[in-house]
Amino acid sequence: MAGNKTLTMIKPDAVRDGHIGAILNQITEAGFRISAMKLTQLSTADAQAFYAVHAERPFFGELVEFMTSGPIVAAILEKDNAVEDFRTLIGATNPAEAAEGTIRARFAKSIGENAVHGSDSDENAQIEGDFHFAGREQF
Ligand code: CMP
Repeated sequence: MAGNKTLTMIKPDAVRDGHIGAILNQITEAGFRISAMKLTQLSTADAQAFYAVHAERPFFGELVEFMTSGPIVAAILEKDNAVEDFRTLIGATNPAEAAEGTIRARFAKSIGENAVHGSDSDENAQIEGDFHFAGREQF
């Protein structure tokens, strides 16, 4: 059975451009409940650990540099079928390929600066949620 939890980050580009409110509104209008949330900034070590699965990819250095370039909003979102439904809401990784009206189609600039993150599996949603939030910060 699909899990009911996913982890999102509103990335530094979207925070810098003033899109926190619009993105959170689109997320809650789509039926997700925010069960944890914070404004924070990743250190280099944080970003390298969060994206360890991409360590061998050619864009890894660029990804870490971008994700540490300013504050992000991290949040745990709850809804039936959360991982898949959230990935539909945000659209394709490359905003040029993202469906009209999706968060990335509306707010992302490029495949690297793509406005939001969404977990890719129930297992990673749990790991990523616990990466950002202590148990007492999850409601
Ligand atoms: P996300 O799915 O949040 O997590 C992995 C990130 O790597 C992805 O978003 C993109 O921001 C980034 N990424 C993926 N492919 C590329 C690429 N070809 N060039 C730069 N960044 C990329």
